[in-house]
Amino acid sequence: MPSPLVVRPAAEPDFDLIGELCVDSYATAGHLDPSDPYTVTLRDARARDAQAKVLVAERDGAIVGTVTICPSGTTFAEVGRDGESEFRFLAVAPTAWRTGVGEALVAACEQWARENGAPAHVICVIDRNHGAHKFYEQLGFTRLPERDWSPREGVNLLAFRRAVPYA
Ligand SMILES: CC(C)(COP(=O)(O)OP(=O)(O)OC[C@H]1O[C@@H](n2cnc3c(N)ncnc32)[C@H](O)[C@@H]1OP(=O)(O)O)[C@@H](O)C(=O)NCCC(=O)NCCS
Repeated sequence: MPSPLVVRPAAEPDFDLIGELCVDSYATAGHLDPSDPYTVTLRDARARDAQAKVLVAERDGAIVGTVTICPSGTTFAEVGRDGESEFRFLAVAPTAWRTGVGEALVAACEQWARENGAPAHVICVIDRNHGAHKFYEQLGFTRLPERDWSPREGVNLLAFRRAVPYA
């Protein structure tokens, strides 16, 4: 039985570890070549936190996952519109996959969206990341094909959205 998870804002001592966790998670899942320039972006959690809100999930005092909330209209937001909240750089340490860490981090993003009056939250996932597609679908996200886009050749991003429940 896994120990309880704590999701909290990242702090200065966390950033290097968060960067390494992101790179390890994406690479282990087969979605990142070490020579890919995106590695530099993934690793730089400190820069992200200056423009957005980096969260971590901790279990037994160890960081086991991270996500970045990117409010609409801010530097790291890509597909959010009209007050929607977007999140990016969701990564769980491979040793903690399928133990509820990803779900807890998405729940924290949804809580932030609700507290800030966002109508929905949105994300992009590379087309070949079928595991993440299933993960988001299982959490109630649906495809938003009109916002699919490609930052560069060979990288096709699929958009997903979930309305924030206010009831
Ligand atoms: C995708 C990812 C964030 C999921 O995190 P996680 O902590 O393993 O997911 P959870 O344990 O919260 O999973 C919740 C449910 O989602 C579904 N799910 C999660 N990962 C899945 C996968 N790889 N394949 C199919 N379904 C999956 C399952 O229904 C799971 O419930 P179950 O384990 O009881 O069957 C994690 O695999 C990861 O970090 N992958 C590499 C980085 C990445 O792809 N990030 C997303 C980029 S947009």
